[in-house]
Amino acid sequence: MHSYYQLVFAGSLAIFASATSANAAKQAAPAPRAPQFDWETVPPSRELQFHDCYDAFKCARLEVPLDWLNDSDTRTATIAIKKLPAVVSDDDHTFGGSIFTNPGGPGGSGVRFIQVEGHNLQRYVDKPGRRHYEIVSWDPRGVGYSTPVSDCFRSNIIARDAYLFEYRGNGGLEQGDSTINHARAMVKGLAQRCESVEEQEGAGMAYVNTPSVARDMVEMVDKIDELRRREAAERTGGEPRIELKRRNGEEDRNVPRLQYIGFSYGTVLGNYFASLFPGRVGRMVLDGVFNTEDYANGPGWLANLVDTDEMFDKFFDGCHKAGPSSCALAIESDSSASEIKSRFWSWVVGLDEAPQPVLSPSGSTIIITGNDIRGIVVGALCLPIKAFKPMAETFHQAMAGNASNLVAIMEGSRIIPRLQDACPVGNATAPPSILVEAQSAVLCGDGDDISDKDNAWWHKYIDHQVNISKIFGAYWTNLRFTCSSWPFRPNWSFKGPFRTPKPDPNLVAGRPAAPLLFLSNRLDPVTPLRAARAMAANHPDAAVIIQEAMGHCAVGTAPSQCTKKIVADYFETGEVPSEETACEASCGPWADDCNVYESSAGFGGGSRGWSWGWGGTASWY
Ligand SMILES: *[C@@H]1O[C@H](CO)[C@@H](O)[C@H](O)[C@H]1NC(C)=O
Ligand SMILES: *[C@@H]1O[C@H](CO)[C@@H](O)[C@H](O)[C@H]1NC(C)=O
Ligand SMILES: *[C@@H]1O[C@H](CO)[C@@H](O)[C@H](O)[C@H]1NC(C)=O
Ligand SMILES: *[C@@H]1O[C@H](CO)[C@@H](O)[C@H](O)[C@H]1NC(C)=O
Ligand SMILES: *[C@@H]1O[C@H](CO)[C@@H](O)[C@H](O)[C@H]1NC(C)=O
Repeated sequence: MHSYYQLVFAGSLAIFASATSANAAKQAAPAPRAPQFDWETVPPSRELQFHDCYDAFKCARLEVPLDWLNDSDTRTATIAIKKLPAVVSDDDHTFGGSIFTNPGGPGGSGVRFIQVEGHNLQRYVDKPGRRHYEIVSWDPRGVGYSTPVSDCFRSNIIARDAYLFEYRGNGGLEQGDSTINHARAMVKGLAQRCESVEEQEGAGMAYVNTPSVARDMVEMVDKIDELRRREAAERTGGEPRIELKRRNGEEDRNVPRLQYIGFSYGTVLGNYFASLFPGRVGRMVLDGVFNTEDYANGPGWLANLVDTDEMFDKFFDGCHKAGPSSCALAIESDSSASEIKSRFWSWVVGLDEAPQPVLSPSGSTIIITGNDIRGIVVGALCLPIKAFKPMAETFHQAMAGNASNLVAIMEGSRIIPRLQDACPVGNATAPPSILVEAQSAVLCGDGDDISDKDNAWWHKYIDHQVNISKIFGAYWTNLRFTCSSWPFRPNWSFKGPFRTPKPDPNLVAGRPAAPLLFLSNRLDPVTPLRAARAMAANHPDAAVIIQEAMGHCAVGTAPSQCTKKIVADYFETGEVPSEETACEASCGPWADDCNVYESSAGFGGGSRGWSWGWGGTASWY
């Protein structure tokens, strides 16, 4: 799926979302291309200059130091920034400034994210006639159109696909030593490839982890502020008032401050930012919350799956209640959800024991395993309103012997690479997707060094994950497993504490201007509510909003005027509810006509999407 548009949509979610046509071949076809833009036409500069791009957007490339900690190091990184202008001009009294957003990952592209979600997000935070924002996102260093690029296959898609095929063919890590050994060798081989690229093209991998990205955000906030002052001065014919004092950082209460909404890994980034630069926080919404302590310390990534299995049980409950007319896995004669559940699991266990070959609509022979089904399930758990019904239909068909929809979903979601993607169309070079090594560079660099762990350690780690989630534990292990041989250690790491001083709305130096606002669905398959509560506890006055819905992240997974109002009010006033607050969703996954954004035909969280392959190609947005 290297067409630009589908990359944003990378994931079974997107495929499910379009599955209503029930035409497998059509689903597998590339989605229409989004407008293209040649970033090379934008000269990187230390001062921001925006250029028209992608129809309604503005793009800029900002040059920043590669190493923020070493003044005598002259190497640079270039950050690709893209913004959706506000619906009013900057000098309108309702203009509310920039809201930055990060879609997650790590390794996710903000440039692609706001192409699809920018307008939805803007409608979500704007208060018509009263408050209007521009939405700003960027490709973090290492990702997409920013440099350095963490691409150890150097755009060789065939080599990358071959790696993914071999990794997948090796099987799930829960299978024991021979699988672990082979996977370790593969991950190590990838690391060697990265080292060889760095030898030839210069270092990058050690400078793309989260503290450096957070520092880039400070720079972007400053540069956007400077630009706005320059433009205001041009309008009025006066001198730009650039307060040089703020170069001294936290000393000045009038420093420009960040307004931010981060999703998934974007909550890690937000938490690092707030903890490192508390005096730069204007507003911060963290939605789909990671436990950042767990992310940065110890074995890592063990706090994500605590609600996953419970949520999957809810799928069966809902399916049973909805009945066969809405949920294809249900049978009229079922007396309880557990009958559906046991039919499903005996099918999956059967595939574990005897994987099935299927000729895909694109002509490839695909071997379907139980792990493929688990991967698809968790993809659907991320966005139930769009995915539950089509998933039930797809599994129903496959259980009855017709797997054509199933393989289309597997190809579309990159559970397996789709080989025809390896042929470039026309002259276009495929834009980089979430690359496993771009993800590793961030998550391995942020986490503790586990490159010296032996098989016994990994067995224990895998057991631990499987104990937490039967459906997803083994699969999830692949993310951290990419660090089993990761050779690059960042100079700048940050291990917490992830906390901020008490906020002060009177803009006091070194303090956030508002408390942090945390959002979570009641049940989230990969960023559970309890992580939101744990993180909020370390930020004074922070609030947790629970959206009574299921899915990964609250915004864009279920419609709730209540959540929307709290978020929009917060951006305007900086105020959060004084206690943990529950927000009802207006409809759910089994309703006939439920849009994730009320009153909009929006794309929903699916474009935060997720792509899921093997070999740590798991990519979370
Ligand atoms: C990181 O870089 C800074 C500045 O160059 C240096 O003072 C420090 O010793 C380095 N730290 C590590 C762990 O290498
Ligand atoms: C800082 O950068 C200079 C110039 O590249 C280099 O010689 C020096 O070793 C660097 N210091 C550290 C601590 O990395
Ligand atoms: C299998 O399912 C697909 C998609 O629903 C359908 O188009 C196709 O005709 C089915 N094939 C058979 C042999 O029933
Ligand atoms: C493809 O590349 C050729 C040679 O560089 C060029 O003449 C042609 O215009 C390009 N086609 C497109 C569609 O960009
Ligand atoms: C996993 O659960 C089993 C059974 O409850 C237990 O024996 C084992 O110690 C657990 N392993 C880990 C690593 O938590």
